[in-house]
Amino acid sequence: MSIVEKFMTMDYGPAPEDPREALTWLERHGRRFGHFIGGTWQPPVAGQYFDTTDPSTGEKLAAVAQGSAADVDAAVRAARAALPAWQALAPHARARYLYALARQVQKHSRRLAVLETMDNGKPIRESRDIDIPLVARHFYYHAGWAQLLEQEFPGYAACGVVGQIIPWNFPLLMLAWKIAPALATGNTVVLKPAEFTPLSALAFAEICQEVELPPGVVNIVTGDGSTGEALVKHPDVDKIAFTGSTEVGRAIRKATAQSHKKLSLELGGKSPFIIFEDADLDSAVEGLVDGIWFNQGQVCCAGSRLLMQESIAEKLITKICDRMNNLRMGPPLDKAIDIGAIVARVQLERIQRLVDQGVAEGAICWQPAIPMPSRGLYFPPTLLSNVHPTSVVAQQEIFGPVLAAMTFRTPSEAVELANNTVYGLAACVWSESINVSLHVAAQLKAGVVWVNCTNLFDASCGFGGYRESGYGREGGREGLLEYLEPEWFKQAPPLRFVPPAIDQPPDERVDFAAPPIDRTVKLFIGGKQARPDSGYSIPVRGADGRLLGEAPLGNRKDIRNAVEAARKGAGWAKTTAHNRAQVLFYMGENLSQRRGEIAERLAAVVGKKQAETEVNLGIERIFSCAAWADKFEGTVHSPPFRNVALAMNEPIGTVGIVCPAEAPLLGFLSLVMPAITVGNTVVAVPSEAYPLIAGDLYQLFETSDLPDGAVNIVTGRSAELLKVIAEHDDVDAIWCFGDETACAAAKALSVGNLKQVFTNEGRVVDWFDAKQGEGRWFLQHAVQVKNIWVPYGE
Ligand code: NAI
Repeated sequence: MSIVEKFMTMDYGPAPEDPREALTWLERHGRRFGHFIGGTWQPPVAGQYFDTTDPSTGEKLAAVAQGSAADVDAAVRAARAALPAWQALAPHARARYLYALARQVQKHSRRLAVLETMDNGKPIRESRDIDIPLVARHFYYHAGWAQLLEQEFPGYAACGVVGQIIPWNFPLLMLAWKIAPALATGNTVVLKPAEFTPLSALAFAEICQEVELPPGVVNIVTGDGSTGEALVKHPDVDKIAFTGSTEVGRAIRKATAQSHKKLSLELGGKSPFIIFEDADLDSAVEGLVDGIWFNQGQVCCAGSRLLMQESIAEKLITKICDRMNNLRMGPPLDKAIDIGAIVARVQLERIQRLVDQGVAEGAICWQPAIPMPSRGLYFPPTLLSNVHPTSVVAQQEIFGPVLAAMTFRTPSEAVELANNTVYGLAACVWSESINVSLHVAAQLKAGVVWVNCTNLFDASCGFGGYRESGYGREGGREGLLEYLEPEWFKQAPPLRFVPPAIDQPPDERVDFAAPPIDRTVKLFIGGKQARPDSGYSIPVRGADGRLLGEAPLGNRKDIRNAVEAARKGAGWAKTTAHNRAQVLFYMGENLSQRRGEIAERLAAVVGKKQAETEVNLGIERIFSCAAWADKFEGTVHSPPFRNVALAMNEPIGTVGIVCPAEAPLLGFLSLVMPAITVGNTVVAVPSEAYPLIAGDLYQLFETSDLPDGAVNIVTGRSAELLKVIAEHDDVDAIWCFGDETACAAAKALSVGNLKQVFTNEGRVVDWFDAKQGEGRWFLQHAVQVKNIWVPYGE
């Protein structure tokens, strides 16, 4: 037998990792854990515990406290009590704590990796080489941000007490993604790990003790969904950060709508893995192994939809099956294992159910004949071909080692198929042509695009989704912003503005013989003035009760037309930044030319002084946006691989904007201009107090070369129109600047397609102060960052 033959026929021997250290640690705690509150271990108030088990053996690892509302309350109180001293620390002191956490994670890395594998079932190779090193990297990276915070984020303040809820697929890594940026920015936290995998979070609690982190800065409360719910609903929590299923994400959005809790959601995915005919197929297949079989496919950004160019489909499938025949399933603590155990029986059953459903819908199921362990929760790597794009296995997140394969012919078909999902977390593109790859990457609706690579993560590169994959980013500069708020905004008082009722009876003082009705304005949809569907108008009166004109009473149909026009106007996003700047400057110029007449009309409602200021500052605000148009750019990250990650600021799409009642002109411009500056299209509802401003605005747009559909205006009753916009599935984001009730409605009604929501939280925004009314705060809400990873070198 030749050496080559020998090599090819050689079998793997067992290579088990020694679990003793982790087991000793469990024993040291008597295999029973309370909550970690205020720096000490606390038994649960209700005295209830649940078991956490090793999914590869079914053996119990430990009993863990089931958190009740009382436990959550104790933890929130501890976090609140710790907040002032933690915030009073100098940035350098906080940086030292984060650095100490990073060091301590590294020192205990092997034990943490083993513990993670035992509790979760993932191969030790992954927990040892990927999860735990990334945990340490996160704390190092954020130690740096803690140090630089005041220099880099002047005028920003921490949210306060943060509630964090994490899933079971990357237990310690998700903890690091949550805790590191929260602490670096001066927040204190209450974190609830997932019920299937609480142990590494508890080990981390001990690390917090070891580095003498001030008590209460990090609190860990264990429990199930009800514990999470208690944290979400706690009135003294300032922000919720959640990673998990889209369903729970929606419930959290709803549950927090009436509060001022800031919210970030990292939810599910159904990420496409696109392979073009010119790709290096062997590399692509290796990428695919990482894409869908990494962590048994229990990965939110798993490349679960394989899209193959038709010409190579057959060849590729053969290669994939060959590779699948060589995957090794087995005890996850074995160092030569590729695929470990599924986290829990309920998940295993869910995977089987979805696969059965896919097969019933016509998919062909292939699984390699590789040895399966005789006990434990395992699911074989699975390839589903002949999958119809509308099939459940092409649309729903399976969260298991199951790949659904489909074909395409052209790049545009690939993009269409790839985007045919409600999700938008990640995507992979494999092609040797940099032009094709980047052209496709730019069109994919996903927060991360890996070109010729897959599942690469780094603390410096923001991670998060488009569409129903959630909002907010973790990692990078944008990740820090999720834990910060402008100082002025935190302190802003509640808005008490009472707009004059639009159909109030005329005041007795009015002289009806005096000036004639000024004019009747129209809606502005798709670049054209349009009559309202209702056929009704509403009278608009000045501060003295005088009838100033009629504004159309827009309804559901008008909003639908406006949204359709806005989507057709999406070409605006593709114009160059320089072009957008030019259009905006021109708008400023045109407003300047008509300043007198517009101010005169506006004066009837807000008085002469405010009207003039609104117009003058309006011109400035437009100029400010024009200035930003070609300067609000992305970043090139240098993660610690031979890669660049291009962080692009992309427009969100169609933004529905309900403008503030006060400052009819300046409020409108302060919101609509930044939204279009970065390439969004807008459906705007102008001030309910003075909707006639629409007439002046569309004349401005008509004379300024703004493309049709970029801005659409529908006047009417704000609350009614807000509801239609919030519930419309083709609107990608809603901005609502009004009172408390309006802001809560925007949040609660937008859960359908999980629109991004930006509101004033019912607080006063001083539109006349440039520090509040313009700049990065608005632009940051107008974009979503897409990270495109491109490897280089040999
Ligand atoms: P889940 O969303 O129910 O659980 C995630 C976390 O949320 C856990 O800590 C859980 O205790 C907590 N939670 C549950 N209900 C809650 C509520 N009403 N309020 C606050 N917190 C709550 O996910 P689950 O049930 O573990 O998995 C179900 C499916 O969700 C998976 O099959 C997968 O498709 C998806 N999923 C997606 C993840 C991702 O990273 N995108 C992670 C985990 C699950």
